[in-house]
Amino acid sequence: MEKLKIEKPAEGMEFSYDIVWKNDFSELAACIAQAGLAPGKICIVTDHNIAPLFLEQVEASLHATGAVVLSHIIPAGEQHKHLDTVRELYAFLVKNHFERKDLLVALGGGVTGDLTGFAAATYLRGIDFVQVPTTLLAQVDSSVGGKTGVDFNKYKNMIGAFHQPRLVYMNAETLRTLPGDQFSSGMAEIIKSALICDSQFFYWLEDHVEEIRKKEPEVLIEMIRTCCSIKANVVAEDPKETGRRAILNYGHTVGHAVEKLSNFRMLHGHCVALGMLAALSIDQKRGTVSDRELLQIRALLVSFALPLYTSGVTPEAVLDAMRSDKKMEGGKIRFILLQKIGTAEICTTLTEADLSDAVLEITGS
Ligand SMILES: NC(=O)c1ccc[n+]([C@@H]2O[C@H](COP(=O)([O-])OP(=O)(O)OC[C@H]3O[C@@H](n4cnc5c(N)ncnc54)[C@H](O)[C@@H]3O)[C@@H](O)[C@H]2O)c1
Ligand SMILES: [Zn+2]
Repeated sequence: MEKLKIEKPAEGMEFSYDIVWKNDFSELAACIAQAGLAPGKICIVTDHNIAPLFLEQVEASLHATGAVVLSHIIPAGEQHKHLDTVRELYAFLVKNHFERKDLLVALGGGVTGDLTGFAAATYLRGIDFVQVPTTLLAQVDSSVGGKTGVDFNKYKNMIGAFHQPRLVYMNAETLRTLPGDQFSSGMAEIIKSALICDSQFFYWLEDHVEEIRKKEPEVLIEMIRTCCSIKANVVAEDPKETGRRAILNYGHTVGHAVEKLSNFRMLHGHCVALGMLAALSIDQKRGTVSDRELLQIRALLVSFALPLYTSGVTPEAVLDAMRSDKKMEGGKIRFILLQKIGTAEICTTLTEADLSDAVLEITGS
């Protein structure tokens, strides 16, 4: 079995769970049993786009657990990642008498995973949940690490909880139906992981562009597994983001600002790619990334259809949006930079002028 064990054996925050990679859903019930779960009822939470594609297969597989299997379909899209959608899920669980030993299964992208995880964290003060991520972004990022939550008013991920899944089950075949722009959005997070933690992985990505674009299953699984293991290591060191976990936000300070200014019409990974380019322009000036390396990184982003520029936003607007982001602490921006390809550091000494210059690189204005 292709799997990775995530462990955090100390500090009153124990968790240990497997991430498994498969090419179908047939072993989901067996993996749930292996995780030590024996729920009386299971609620699959999925969205309107994913239900017609995979719900029947997942339901069929889960019947082998012996549990009563129900499903709850939420509307698709970030605009529904809010408390009203959670409230409807709570109502469904109450109506169907879900108890503490029962289980939620999040079948879908990051929106479904974050929202279901948050419901699991809070329903009856916490019940178990399993992640079955179906987007590349969810497979490499949102399903690993235990951050759950929803947006509140205009603020992204403002309400949430740390709640680790009991199992993450990935079916690589689900990526076949994923629209191209969603695939490229996930690639940005993968390139980010390579840049902050693993230079060998960066060069491996350069060497496998064609196979990845053709979605060759073995190459995809190797890529996703490497990325999950990078994230899992960072998270295990700092599960509640009091320090080093912040490096995962590389490209996200500027990226979130651009995403917000686009009213979330631009995809997350596309904004992260722009945010990384802004950060890289600072790295290039500091001399930690050479001109040649910057060209290499830009070429890799382009090969996965990621943007190098955005029009229609000004550096002032981006800076304003960054100021209202919760990543500012005591008026200072915690900005992630590279010491070199494969190593990141947290920097709190950048001036507004540094940031403005960096944003100019991607707005071109
Ligand atoms: N918890 C974390 O640590 C973390 C990390 C990164 C991102 N996130 C969150 O993840 C969310 C973004 O996730 P996402 O990009 O997966 O978005 P998403 O869940 O909205 O999925 C994107 C779109 O693809 C569709 N879709 C999903 N799987 C499909 C498939 N296999 N085939 C066809 N269509 C499919 C969905 O219905 C949706 O329309 C954001 O809300 C972000 O805040 C969380
Ligand atoms: Zn991200």
